[in-house]
Amino acid sequence: MSQPVVFLVGFMGSGKSSVGRALATHLGLAFIDLDDRIERHAGKSVRGIFAEDGEAVFRAHERAALLGLEPELAAGAVIATGGGACQDAAARAWMLAHGTMVWLDVPLETIERRVPRDGSRPLFGDRLALDALYQERRSGYESAGLRVDAGALAPEDVAQLVARRLGTRERA
Ligand code: S3P
Repeated sequence: MSQPVVFLVGFMGSGKSSVGRALATHLGLAFIDLDDRIERHAGKSVRGIFAEDGEAVFRAHERAALLGLEPELAAGAVIATGGGACQDAAARAWMLAHGTMVWLDVPLETIERRVPRDGSRPLFGDRLALDALYQERRSGYESAGLRVDAGALAPEDVAQLVARRLGTRERA
């Protein structure tokens, strides 16, 4: 039987990396952080790419890093994507074709409380800008096959919930 491939999607600060690590451990799969791959690919930090090359170049790296995962997927994996990865229709279609997209849905107020404004997330602006970005992206997140309310739970508990929901789907 083929191994599960799970793409975690959701807004910045929704816990994709911490939940992803816990979920991968739980399912005995590799964990891949797309931002790490982008940084490796580009030879500089996400912040550096945005500052020196701009968002369009970052998105090109993001697309290349995502599509470049293909050879690793046969063994199964949990992939934490960046908050903007699924705003691109082609990337969404690719993820849907290669695995299960899981949306970690966290209210914007919770995200604002969680995420430090330390410049590490170049698109993490003021409340108005965040709200606009969130509204713009919501329909992309909604294309995920699974949505999990992840705002009030610790990463380990979200991971357990996702694993359970994935198991139920597999048996359905
Ligand atoms: C981005 C989210 C970030 C990172 C980059 C762009 C976005 O990832 O990919 O700063 O466009 O929302 P996280 O969602 O892990 O913060």
